[in-house]
Amino acid sequence: MVLCVCANMQLSSQGTAHDEIDFEFLGNVTGEPYTLHTNVFAKGQGQREQQFRLWFDPTKAFHTYSIIWNPQHVIFAVDGTAIRDFKNHEARGVSFPKSQPMRLYASLWNADDWATQGGRVKTDWSKAPFVASFRNFNADACVMSGGAQRCPAGTMEASAAGGSGSWWNQELSGMGYRRMRWVQRKFMIYNYCTDPKRVAQGVPAECKLR
Ligand SMILES: *[C@@H]1O[C@H](CO)[C@@H](O)[C@H](O)[C@H]1NC(C)=O
Repeated sequence: MVLCVCANMQLSSQGTAHDEIDFEFLGNVTGEPYTLHTNVFAKGQGQREQQFRLWFDPTKAFHTYSIIWNPQHVIFAVDGTAIRDFKNHEARGVSFPKSQPMRLYASLWNADDWATQGGRVKTDWSKAPFVASFRNFNADACVMSGGAQRCPAGTMEASAAGGSGSWWNQELSGMGYRRMRWVQRKFMIYNYCTDPKRVAQGVPAECKLR
């Protein structure tokens, strides 16, 4: 049986020079592993894909996929383990999604032109309808209303006071960082920073920075 629909969870802004933070599940032939695809767009510039194998079958049970998005980091985590930390390197000329509000979208769509083994595996429509299920959705975020941003109580205060109790100034601890590097060594299957096709046009600046 061919199951090649992609479920995704993304934060995205409106318009052309849009910001977007993606978590996508690229389906596969039954029995073959799903790919967890991540990407970060800022001011319309994307092409910052990193892909991972999961250490479990995502179709068998619910797991927790989180995005911690604050002014300094976009951290992707699976069951509480960070797998990617896209840092704000604006000072070095790297665009970072920070100036536009985003909405959260969760959907299921046909991407068999590229996602499923590079488009070689096609959707078997006789298996429709396809289902993606989500549960225990939680959002703790600043909300835009009438052009102003309103943050949950304590978010900015904790930050101003140098506290680290809030996602607003959350970052990886030394331990969290080492754990992420370990997961990347074991489970990352694609990294735009080391893709020969990308690197041939110049190594993206953020790939040379820590
Ligand atoms: C699907 O399975 C093949 C074979 O195991 C693997 O190479 C590929 O990365 C998997 N994922 C996708 C999205 O094609």
